[in-house]
Amino acid sequence: MDDNTPNDGALAPVGVALVGAGYWGPNLARNFLACAETDLRWIVDLDTERASAVVNGRPDVRVADDLSQALDDPEVQAVAIATPPATHLPLAEAALRAGRHVLVEKPLATTAADGERLARLADDLGLVLMCDHTFCYTPVVRAISRLVASGDLGDIQYVDSIRVNLGLVQSDVDVFWDLAPHDLSVLDHILPPEVRPVGIAAHGADPIGSGQACVGYLTIPLSGGAIAHVTVNWLSPSKIRQMVIAGSRKMAVWDDMKPSQRLSILDSGVELRTPEGPEEKRRLLVDYRVGDMLVPALPEGTEALRAVVTEFAECARTGRTPLTDGWAGVRILRLLEAASVSLRSNSAMISVPDGS
Ligand SMILES: NC(=O)c1ccc[n+]([C@@H]2O[C@H](COP(=O)([O-])OP(=O)(O)OC[C@H]3O[C@@H](n4cnc5c(N)ncnc54)[C@H](O)[C@@H]3O)[C@@H](O)[C@H]2O)c1
Repeated sequence: MDDNTPNDGALAPVGVALVGAGYWGPNLARNFLACAETDLRWIVDLDTERASAVVNGRPDVRVADDLSQALDDPEVQAVAIATPPATHLPLAEAALRAGRHVLVEKPLATTAADGERLARLADDLGLVLMCDHTFCYTPVVRAISRLVASGDLGDIQYVDSIRVNLGLVQSDVDVFWDLAPHDLSVLDHILPPEVRPVGIAAHGADPIGSGQACVGYLTIPLSGGAIAHVTVNWLSPSKIRQMVIAGSRKMAVWDDMKPSQRLSILDSGVELRTPEGPEEKRRLLVDYRVGDMLVPALPEGTEALRAVVTEFAECARTGRTPLTDGWAGVRILRLLEAASVSLRSNSAMISVPDGS
């Protein structure tokens, strides 16, 4: 449905309460207001002035300082939570227990156990629990996901992701918990089911004495012998957002800083030839393939968050499992938790549970 076309009346828009009007909440509010499938009814924030500023005088959106007020409204069918991670569990649990579908900002919770509790509760109650892994809703990640699933890239050999810039040094979370959920959720989304993280080792440094790792490297062995590496850094002079997905047939390069060439698919690779004869058997026979590069046209100009709120509304209406459900949020929490254990254990390789 076109964003600006009024709902045709066949299905009423989903009534939504948004909790959190800080930095990220207003982005969700803007998209809920613009989406024909959602009816934003409440903005809840401990700071009601902040919430009122987001409402900007609209008479149809009410303001509250406590979620319970919005949950008393029978027209609210769904709750979106954009508050600090430590508040996600109590707010999401209250909304689910009140029978509402829930969208939670990343990270789903602050521990994997809390995330599992929410995912299980949603399953038991037959409600939708969705985690906002925003990048999974971008055209470029959808295109990469299709490329991998179609087999065009061949077998995945490695994934290398870099997310660095002069970032906001946080006081409550380290650079892994702040930035790596993006890379890890994309990995989770694009990798085929037979290629899953089996462990994680984290190296981190705090060269400015902030009390948290500001520079970090994650090494993630994948089942089947492939490997992923993630670099995250709040102290980099250059802003780099790049992911290389190397397959046995082709390689994909996602450069998010290049809107005109966000995705390149290179017919390049390195192969070992089977040696023939005694002379060849003594040498390693390496074939380099440098072929054409394809730059697919991707739709630009649509906010990924619009796709997020639309997916949430459709799943709330139909009961369909969202692309990034609560269990996807749990898998990311398991990886982040294992990375924190590794960091405290001299960067030891920590196994991650099956399915992570
Ligand atoms: N998907 C993304 O790309 C993306 C980007 C940025 C932030 N986030 C996530 O969004 C969430 C919020 O981050 P932020 O940067 O907007 O935080 P923020 O600190 O700027 O805002 C949080 C807001 O929540 C309110 N709040 C706190 N506890 C509350 C409660 N119990 N009830 C009602 N309101 C409460 C605060 O008053 C504040 O206005 C985090 O989980 C963060 O990781 C996601």
